Amino acid sequence: MESLADIWEDGKPVGVFGGQWGDEGKGRLVDFLTAQAEFVIRFNGGANAGHTIIVGDKKEVTHLLPSGIIRRGTKNVVGPGVLCTLAVLRHEATAIADLCGAEVLLDRSAPVVHAIHRWFDAAREAGGQGIGTTKRGIGPACEDIASRRGSVRLGDLTDVDRVREILTRNNYYNERRCAAEAFCGRAGLEPFPTLEEVIADIMAYKGDVVPRLCDARAIIARAVKQRKKVLFEAAQAILLDPFAGTAPHTTSSLCTRAGVGATFGIYDFGAVIGVAKAYATRVGDGPFPTELEDATGDRLRELGHEYGSTTGRPRRCGWLDLVALRYAARMGGLTHLAITKLDTLAAFDEVKVCTGYTFNGRPVEAEETLTSKVMRDSVQSYLRLPGWGRHAERLPNCRRLADLPEDVRTYLERIETETGCPVIAAGVGPEREQLAI
Ligand code: IMP
Repeated sequence: MESLADIWEDGKPVGVFGGQWGDEGKGRLVDFLTAQAEFVIRFNGGANAGHTIIVGDKKEVTHLLPSGIIRRGTKNVVGPGVLCTLAVLRHEATAIADLCGAEVLLDRSAPVVHAIHRWFDAAREAGGQGIGTTKRGIGPACEDIASRRGSVRLGDLTDVDRVREILTRNNYYNERRCAAEAFCGRAGLEPFPTLEEVIADIMAYKGDVVPRLCDARAIIARAVKQRKKVLFEAAQAILLDPFAGTAPHTTSSLCTRAGVGATFGIYDFGAVIGVAKAYATRVGDGPFPTELEDATGDRLRELGHEYGSTTGRPRRCGWLDLVALRYAARMGGLTHLAITKLDTLAAFDEVKVCTGYTFNGRPVEAEETLTSKVMRDSVQSYLRLPGWGRHAERLPNCRRLADLPEDVRTYLERIETETGCPVIAAGVGPEREQLAI
């Protein structure tokens, strides 16, 4: 596969993944591919993700549904690994789906993020003591999946007795309530919810959730067999993956193609595309080797509108880190890259890319694991490249990679050399059609 235009030529599924720390603009690429896809699937994450969509003159932010929602006729699937906050799910599966004229299918085994999960996430973050989560309950919900207790699934909403049983079996509710006492005294915490409140808060969504339930694994397995165009859209990003990323400053669900394998049993892809910004951003705590805590970082933030779409937090900004991207490409099994926001960098006369780390006095090799310690304690070396400000007017009109200004192509070629992944798409402006392929 040489071009985005023939991405489904061999009839295999395609995946789009974040190549950095999230917010790379994956939705843009997914939107482009969705014009052809029959199924668009979210397989990981939850309401910690946010994607702004424009429908007519309305601006909406989706958190759980794939970005495919904005194209009429696509089937939008919430897979068995998506952590579902029911209030968000209801709004998106009814109001937003109706607005878009889209079909929504919810997997029966997708886990519910309930009030106890949200309470613990907020409690652990209270007073700045956590890791800077989005406080959506993601970590505690994943803990309960791993510990095999207290994890209600969407399919359980058909039966209130079953929900009660899950929340009380093995002393779950009482144990959680006792554990909550350890946080007593932290400022701004809501009272711990009663068992009846947790159950009522889940069951309130039954009427909207149950009619949309399905066996998404079976539907997608059939679609793949029939060589239909199937697109998996990741939330978050490889460097936020709990295994591949910068632990403990990561999210809790799988962010690489392993997440698709684990939840759908699909391992064979036609293309695995990593999306990366032409620079780097991160929200929340954790190592960020190329971070610019100066006026250049502030300028990137303003020019790139780098504020979180879920929490509104200002994003930390820095130069593109090719050592981290090379590592992400390896850990994520990426076959291709899409580079977004090249237009934002057009404001700079000169751009820098990080091409090496030195840790304990020796260069970090390509095969080494980029642990948080390595990221935090290494010294970065940079390559300076000419900016493309003099082409700032031409850039937004480029629709083919071959037409990009020479300085931009040099930049992209450097990315390809360092990561070993061909660049198959480049974002050249904020509008939907401003993508060079
Ligand atoms: P959690 O996923 O809410 O538990 O947050 C864990 C870490 O992942 C925090 O640093 C968050 O800022 C980060 N994170 C979670 N979701 C996103 C996302 O969609 N974009 C960027 N960062 C995210």
